[in-house]
Amino acid sequence: MTAHIIDGKAFAAGLRQRLAEEVAALAGQGVQPGLAVVLVGEDPASQVYVGSKERMAKEAGMASTVHRLPAETPQADLLALIASLNADPAVHGILVQLPLPPGLDPQAVVLAIDPAKDVDGLHPINAGNLAIGAPALVPCTPSGCMMLLRDALGDLTGARALVLGRSNLMGKPMGQLLLAANCTVTMAHSRTRDLPEECRRADILVAAVGRPRMVKGDWIRPGATVIDVGINRLPPAPGQQKGKLVGDVDFDAAKEVAGAITPVPGGVGPMTIACLLDNTITAACRIHG
Ligand code: GUN
Repeated sequence: MTAHIIDGKAFAAGLRQRLAEEVAALAGQGVQPGLAVVLVGEDPASQVYVGSKERMAKEAGMASTVHRLPAETPQADLLALIASLNADPAVHGILVQLPLPPGLDPQAVVLAIDPAKDVDGLHPINAGNLAIGAPALVPCTPSGCMMLLRDALGDLTGARALVLGRSNLMGKPMGQLLLAANCTVTMAHSRTRDLPEECRRADILVAAVGRPRMVKGDWIRPGATVIDVGINRLPPAPGQQKGKLVGDVDFDAAKEVAGAITPVPGGVGPMTIACLLDNTITAACRIHG
């Protein structure tokens, strides 16, 4: 039996529609959620992501501004821009696109963002609040994964979940969210011993390592739900300009074993931007009481 393919693109479109309705309702109260995205340098993938964030925020009726800075921008100038966005009452969400060019300190940049406007959920105040179960702005990609999991499975209580990857933006908050949903969580990573064996125990497998097709079909427990967060571009095939986009999971093999699986593209990716808009609305509502 082949797996149910989880349609993240359709789910995200529905979510954005509901968010646009919330934005319209807020307009009646004189509030327009505002998102400020900061892009330093010319990383091509980041330019594409940032362009999509701006377009979709506007489509939802939000105010959206992109601040494009040259790669040579001094740290002090970047921090000054963040200070001005922190102070701007029309800005409710601030996102500094990562990775930053060499020479800029991402940790210092994250610390400079007002935690109430930190729509990436990266500030230690938000990460700490998530860990203790207090209201937090939660990183967008793990939020999106949780929405897809809840939609596919309903109550997650008691499920064995394995998160492959331990980044601050994805793996660690994903583990916290699964724990809060009463899963038994294993955090796996590049140094995990017997990784295929660990994966085979999981009812829910979330792969976020950034390694193309690393998770093989026989690593997956029959019937498991597989959430593939990876977006990896393969080298172009002969005669082609661009390589194929693939996830961290060997999709063709995995779909023959899993109960449900997200595709790449069209799975988790579209959820990240929808959750960014969601966080910006949440921030605007909290700021305006
Ligand atoms: N680069 C890739 N994904 C993200 C994200 O979710 N937030 C930020 N700030 N940078 C990213």
